[in-house]
Amino acid sequence: MSSAFPKGFLWGASTSAYQAEGAALEDGKKPSQQDIINQDSYKQFGFATAEIASDQYHHYKEDVALMKEMGFTAYRFSIAWSRVFPDGVGEVNPKGIQYYRDLIDELIASGIEPIVTLYHYDLPWTLVQKYGGWLDRQVVADFENYARYVITEFKDKVRYWTTVNEQSIIVQYWTQKCYIPEELQEQHQLRYQINHHMNLAHAVACKLVHELVPGGLVGSALGYAPVYPLTSHAEDCMAAQNAQALRNDYYTDIYFKGEYNKAAMRYLEDHGLAPVIQEGDMELIREGTSDFLALNYYASECAKWCPEGEGREIRYSGVNRSGKKGDISGFETHPGFYEMCKNPNLDTTDWDWAIDPVGMEYMLRDLYNRYGKPLMITENGLGAYDTLTEDGKIHDGYRIDYLRGHIQAVKRAIDKGVEMIAYCPWSAIDLLSTSNGMKKRYGLIYVDRTDDAPKDCARIRKDSFYWYQKAIASNGADLA
Ligand code: BG6
Repeated sequence: MSSAFPKGFLWGASTSAYQAEGAALEDGKKPSQQDIINQDSYKQFGFATAEIASDQYHHYKEDVALMKEMGFTAYRFSIAWSRVFPDGVGEVNPKGIQYYRDLIDELIASGIEPIVTLYHYDLPWTLVQKYGGWLDRQVVADFENYARYVITEFKDKVRYWTTVNEQSIIVQYWTQKCYIPEELQEQHQLRYQINHHMNLAHAVACKLVHELVPGGLVGSALGYAPVYPLTSHAEDCMAAQNAQALRNDYYTDIYFKGEYNKAAMRYLEDHGLAPVIQEGDMELIREGTSDFLALNYYASECAKWCPEGEGREIRYSGVNRSGKKGDISGFETHPGFYEMCKNPNLDTTDWDWAIDPVGMEYMLRDLYNRYGKPLMITENGLGAYDTLTEDGKIHDGYRIDYLRGHIQAVKRAIDKGVEMIAYCPWSAIDLLSTSNGMKKRYGLIYVDRTDDAPKDCARIRKDSFYWYQKAIASNGADLA
């Protein structure tokens, strides 16, 4: 077994636009649905808004310099649609597109390969007001217009493109990731309808990259958690297979087989949840082939059998808002199919996410065996409370342990034949969590702000920064 990663393996980290950039209404940008959703979570839970976030818009040169110092050869970030097209369609915002030109040029000048995500939860608010956003098919045409513009603009500078971030997570947590009016929130079929529109948008973007970018490579960035059975009872194993079908294969079969997973679709049809598919949709999906799959892996999941019966109804994933272990508000349940549950064999983060480096290897090997496409990690990381000590340091040994275990798992997968392109943990800098504000930090670089006070967002290298620097310099051989 070799000790290092293959030559040319990309090392970096990730962020997304609304979680990092700030400048939510600056230089011509108009709100995205995340600006609105996060104003609401500020009111409800006191979590920071996206208005300033980590202020990367004003700190991007400093951030890229720090990434270069760490030795990054890749940076995965997203473009904010409403910065480029403030109204979703129509006039381009010259200052908005200029920001991404400057960022991408800065990265390239620093020897860092940009990995661009076209869409990371932040639909222009105008499109939500106009027709309900992802609820309406019109969004696919508007996305195509936006994607065509951005891909054409950067076709000679960006080789790696990811399309829609985490469709699977959008289905689970749809009111956090999309603006859904209250009166529609019980219409669960709409979760799968939104996802169908995203499948079309994904296919359109794949076609555009292949048409416009010389040597361009494209794939989805999927939130993926392999599912283990709670016990070796046959019913629990079957439940885990069902959960795997509806939570994972339902997405990957679209990307690589151009079809909906049959067991999952049959379940959705039987419960009135299946999306409406129009003539020509599946052809478009089949034409939009993916070159790779980008994976956002944080945790594995666990499932058990759930009989149908009185008092049992369909429920979607709960969330832990408090950051106290065990405070999760419930588990996804599909009576007669499966019920998700806590895995008693794994420790969790303070927000109840199971910590499972082996799950990384399990996932990579399984996906590569089934689809035979190269894989990249575009997210993986530990959400934790960090303390800035009096001498201005962040001793995040817990994050180092987490990352070490997961990098070792990627390496084991490579040694067993899996083709891997990149490892980009979450996140390059501290940023606004999608569900827990600024307290839950992921960054290798500390951003000095709190939920209440944006302060100056000063950047401070954490212990994990120096550790990752060594890991990259040794191409993954030195993880001590
Ligand atoms: C992924 C998202 O779901 O997980 C990121 O792509 C997100 O946007 C990350 O920040 C961690 O989740 P959270 O809720 O802890 O921010």
